[in-house]
Parts: sequence; structure tokens; C-alpha cells
Amino acid sequence: MTKQQQYLCTECGDVFATHYGRCPSCGEYGTVKPYRAPKGGESTAEEALLTGEDLLLAGEGAPWQAQARRIPTTLTELDRVLGGGIMPGSVLLLGGSPGVGKSTLLLQVLHALPTALYVSGEESLSQVMERAERLQLSGIEGRVLSSVSLGDVLTTLEAHCLPLVIIDSIQTLSDGESPLGSLRQLKDATHALLSLAKRTGTAVLLIGHVTKTEAIAGPRVLEHMVDAVLQLESERQSDVRILRAKKNRYGSTMEIGLWRMTGHGMESVTDASTLLEQHRTDAPGVAYSLLRDGMRTLLTEVQALTLKTNFGTPRVVSQGVELSRVHTLIAVITKHTKLPCNVHDVYVNLVAGIRTADPALDLALVAAIISSVHGVRVPAGVLLLGEVGLSGEVRRVPHQAQRVQEAARLGFTRVILGPDTADNTGEYPVPVQTLRHISGLSEVLF
Ligand SMILES: Nc1ncnc2c1ncn2[C@@H]1O[C@H](COP(=O)(O)OP(=O)(O)O)[C@@H](O)[C@H]1O
Ligand SMILES: [Mg+2]
Repeated sequence: MTKQQQYLCTECGDVFATHYGRCPSCGEYGTVKPYRAPKGGESTAEEALLTGEDLLLAGEGAPWQAQARRIPTTLTELDRVLGGGIMPGSVLLLGGSPGVGKSTLLLQVLHALPTALYVSGEESLSQVMERAERLQLSGIEGRVLSSVSLGDVLTTLEAHCLPLVIIDSIQTLSDGESPLGSLRQLKDATHALLSLAKRTGTAVLLIGHVTKTEAIAGPRVLEHMVDAVLQLESERQSDVRILRAKKNRYGSTMEIGLWRMTGHGMESVTDASTLLEQHRTDAPGVAYSLLRDGMRTLLTEVQALTLKTNFGTPRVVSQGVELSRVHTLIAVITKHTKLPCNVHDVYVNLVAGIRTADPALDLALVAAIISSVHGVRVPAGVLLLGEVGLSGEVRRVPHQAQRVQEAARLGFTRVILGPDTADNTGEYPVPVQTLRHISGLSEVLF
């Protein structure tokens, strides 16, 4: 069977089934070209364009390859996400919204690795040193370079065979020909650093700006080019910071790193149970779940308020979840738990404006509603994951093992989910409660 003709945008790397004069993804004109996916593989842009792996092969014999040993950053939470440390010659992209702590974290990495170099195009040398002083990071003098010139940075890196260079940020490094932040500038700068990394074995940590939708600004092809894409996120306006790997060529994408942002920088959260304080159920009608939204995982607080309907048809109001879903779950609860939910007005809300269609939320919604009707709170440390069917059965959810692992890292001590034994043997000691039918939920929870 011959493969269907496909079209690839050379700018953003997206692949389409039909030709476009203007790329529907990035909006560039004249960049969509015919392209044939390689045999036997997924037709991703990654395979059509020069990737880190290609360069890695091209650079066979590079000194670091004989013993490709990871460089531990000694920041345990970062090493955990990286899979033990930074691979020599690898290129990593760190994204996150402004102010989340990217520069702070990587300045701490610079401090921990006495032979690393920090290139700042965002801030002047004195601004970086001022920050270092505030964070009490000594011994970085002479290892901070303030430059926006790609040429200068490459020359410096060629001259000194360094194990690691930090670039803050990729959007500020240019050869002077293309405008800063343009797709070409980003691709050229990344490509130049990528070839240097593969040739010399210097690992490169790039900071990337993110857009409002939290995607790393610039062509998606940037994410295809690098070896790992890390995302630093803040947990609902709190001081907790979570690092996830969206892509990791040299490790798992299951691990998360946890910090608290303090005046002295990012402090590792090694004992996740201290985070439980942050998600403690204080009132009846509150339950927690972990949702997936594309590549992201979101800890979600579900709130339900139920009031006995005085007259007429009960009111159901929902924020963040489709109303029909809430109606369905109310019907399921009424039928299968004998709890007269249908004579209550039900108000449902997902905290912090989260909206989702992830069915994994069902069980938490059911728990929140039952908890409100009973007037009894869901015990602290409980997280619920499960899709609820019309016959009241609880089903397992996609990426269940990953969600359970993350729940444990976030300090939850008990995860209630659909029947499945495979996930009970996680690395973390989370007693997992499996549930076949929501009629048993009250006994399990209250
Ligand atoms: N003088 C200060 N005292 C305490 N915290 C500060 C100070 N200046 C900045 N911060 C903290 O550091 C954060 C900025 O972190 P930064 O590493 O610059 O983020 P990013 O590089 O991701 O934009 C601010 O949001 C703030 O919480
Ligand atoms: Mg910064």
C-alpha cells in the first residue's frame, strides 16, 4: 500500500493531508510543501527535518559519546525530571510564563555546576548579579555573560569546552539578520546551538518564552529539534512550582519536580505531604481530581453545593463542566445510590476557572455532590479518578498510572479509581482504593 501524499509546513513543522497556500497552524504563506513520510513510522515533522538525533549520529566519535554519562545538576527535583541529570551534548528547552521562576532556577543550576556558563540576553550583567546576591548564590562571578549576539556566544563556546551553557532566553539570541522573536531567528539560533552541542558535547539549556496558551512561543519545530521540553508551571497562584517534561528523549515524562518559590529562590519540596495543606478539604462538597489537558496535567478542585429544592424543578448550574454531564451524573447517583439527588438544586464549580471535558473528573464530581448532600467532607488526602457509566460503574481512565504517580508526588495518600489492579504496584506508597460501582462510594469515603 502506498502512503498518501502529505504536506509539511517548513516553518512550524505541522503536517497536513491537503495543500495550503497559507499554513493553518502558523499562518505563514508559501511554506507548506509536499512531503512523504518515511516508511513504517508516524508521519511527524520530526522525521522530515534535521533533529538532534540526526546530528547526534552525524557527530559520531565526539569525545563525550564514549562515556555519555549524565551530569547531575545536584538540584534533586530537576534531576528527577531529567532522569538523573543532563546528558552531555543534549539540548533542553525550558518553558514557562513570565515570573514563574525560570531564570531563578537556572541561576541555581549555574551555582551548582562550577564549570557552567550563563548567557543572559534578557538582563544586564548587573541585574543578574543583583539577583544572584539576593538568592545568596556566590561563586558565579565570571561565568555570566550578557549578550544578544549569537556569533559571540558561539565563539565563546567554541573556545571553552564547557559541560553546560544556559541561554536566557532563546528569543534574545540573534545573528542580527532576522528580527528577534521571529520564526527564522528562533530556528537559526536553536539550530546553531544544536550543532555545537552535538559536535562539542556541551549541553545546552534554553529558556523559552511562552504564549498565553502556555505553548512555547515560536515554531513548534523548536520542540521537535530539541532533546527535551520542560515546562515550569505554578500551581494556582500559589508559591508551588511544578516542573514537567513534555518530551524527554533521555528519560521518562512521568516524573514531576516540585519547588516553592521563596525570597531565597526555589526551595525543593522533597516531602510532598507538606503540600497537602494546600489542598485540604475544609468543607463538605469538595473533592480533588487530576485532569489531563493535552500534554498538561492539572490538579483540580471540584466544588458542589446542593440545596433541597423547595418547589418546582430542581436547578442545576455548572461552571467548567458541561451541564448535560452534571445532569447525567445526578441521574446516576439518584438511581444507583438511592440518594435523592434529583430533589436538590445542584451547583457545580471547578476552582480557578478550569474547564474540562475529561471524563476522569466524573468520580470527583459524584463524590463532591454526595458529600454536599450528606454534609460530610471527603477525607483529606483523597483524590478521585474515574469515569462513571450509566449503570453506575466506575471505569479506569487514560494515563491512570501516571496520574496516580503524580497524585502521590503532590501529597495525596489515597487514590480512589476504577477497577484495575495494575496500578496498585506503583513506586509510591499510595494505598489505592479501587471501586467497581459508585454505590460503594459512600462506604469507601465517609
Ligand atoms: N526582590 C525580590 N524578592 C523576592 N522575590 C522576588 C524578587 N524579585 C523577584 N522575585 C520573585 O522571583 C520571580 C521571578 O522569577 P524569574 O526567575 O525572574 O522568572 P522568569 O525567569 O520565569 O520570568 C518573581 O515572580 C518573584 O516571585
Ligand atoms: Mg527570566
